[in-house]
Amino acid sequence: MIGIVFRLLILITLVVNGYRPKKLTTLFEWKDLEFDFPSKEDREAALEGGLYIMKNGFPVDVDVDNNGRTFVTIPRLSKGIPYSLATVSNRSAANGPLLEPYPNYEAHSSHGGDCDGITSVFRVTIDQCNRLWVVDAGTINKTQHCPPKILVYNLEKDTLLFSYIIPEDQYVSGKSQLNKPVVDIMKGQCNKTKVYVADVKVPGLLVFDQATEKSWRIEDKSMNPDLEFETFTIADESINLIDGIYGMSLTPNSFRGERSLYFHVLTSDEKRSVPLKAINNASMWMNNEKHPDVFKLIGNRGVQCGDEAMDSFGINYCGFMDPLSIFAWNINTPYRRGYVMELVNDPERLQFASGMKVIRNKQGRQELRVSSNRLQRIYSKTIDYDEVNFRIMSMKIN
Ligand SMILES: *[C@@H]1O[C@H](CO)[C@@H](O)[C@H](O)[C@H]1NC(C)=O
Ligand SMILES: *[C@@H]1O[C@H](CO)[C@@H](O)[C@H](O)[C@H]1NC(C)=O
Ligand SMILES: *[C@@H]1O[C@H](CO)[C@@H](O)[C@H](O)[C@H]1NC(C)=O
Ligand SMILES: *[C@@H]1O[C@H](CO)[C@@H](O)[C@H](O)[C@H]1NC(C)=O
Repeated sequence: MIGIVFRLLILITLVVNGYRPKKLTTLFEWKDLEFDFPSKEDREAALEGGLYIMKNGFPVDVDVDNNGRTFVTIPRLSKGIPYSLATVSNRSAANGPLLEPYPNYEAHSSHGGDCDGITSVFRVTIDQCNRLWVVDAGTINKTQHCPPKILVYNLEKDTLLFSYIIPEDQYVSGKSQLNKPVVDIMKGQCNKTKVYVADVKVPGLLVFDQATEKSWRIEDKSMNPDLEFETFTIADESINLIDGIYGMSLTPNSFRGERSLYFHVLTSDEKRSVPLKAINNASMWMNNEKHPDVFKLIGNRGVQCGDEAMDSFGINYCGFMDPLSIFAWNINTPYRRGYVMELVNDPERLQFASGMKVIRNKQGRQELRVSSNRLQRIYSKTIDYDEVNFRIMSMKIN
């Protein structure tokens, strides 16, 4: 009897505190990506020239702008990907909704021939000033065609605001993979922005300061892969992945006290943070100087997780590999079981949660956007194009 009363009390407490089982809603899904082209001739030319090879691309990241447009990235990890940054149109084709190139087809169609264009994009971020920050890795199938760069688009007009080429001494040509950008706008001033970019393959962190148009590179051993976590078992299939610093998010802007960059290495189970004060101070990192003491270990989760995101309340989200679930953790609490909570378990749809963002919907409420793919099957070449392989999903948070 006491047991039942006790459980009821817990349940009531949870309900009062707003706990409800969470649900993922599929917004878009694909068996294979469907690329739209400006004309039939462009499509045929791309097919003939080997610049469009069906089944070669997969979506990695997702974000949504003020007008509700969904952006996806398709990094050129192989040849035959007609464009690397796209919006999802409202027109459907046999395998899913048609993608449209962003900002246009010409920006992508040289496939590394014209370095003013876009060569390969892993991830993007849309900021509060309605700008799209794009990190162009400059590589196709590991060949460095162009230097990596940061591109910024005005999403109202779809025009390029500026681009910044990463200096040669801040990446390793053909080896680095400049991947995820996170963006911090200081005191609401759009021209006082700092961008943090992860180098996944030659582990490091780039900091770009828009006000001075300078960047610097930071390396620390906590950004390196931990080979103990090299094997990823996703939906009963195993692959080996050796990647460094991967997921990143920031303490919300409104937070009192010291703000930090939260990050994790893909091939690892650690969660870490570093104060913005330290990484924003360029003089600390001159001449490859090291400061291991500023990279704090927060905890270990015992398993790998994909991309991470943070909401305005300081709740940090990540898609765990086992169980295939999205977990949430309040950054003011210890990073361990009981505080790291499973929000939704969905092995069929989650698979590899490669992209995750907190966005604001039309009502101003926060929602999670998740891009998932079957990375394990892509890498083991067992992908079945008769079933759904790529999804973009949403989840109400608050
Ligand atoms: C990538 O390049 C290597 C040689 O550098 C080649 O063997 C391989 O087939 C290429 N892969 C794709 C998918 O284009
Ligand atoms: C589809 O999108 C276009 C613009 O991209 C818009 O003009 C049109 O109204 C949309 N159609 C529907 C049915 O939503
Ligand atoms: C930055 O933006 C502020 C307004 O937000 C403006 O007053 C200032 O002149 C701008 N500075 C530069 C360097 O563009
Ligand atoms: C930046 O770091 C240097 C040491 O490298 C230190 O002397 C200086 O006070 C720091 N600046 C700020 C604003 O924290």
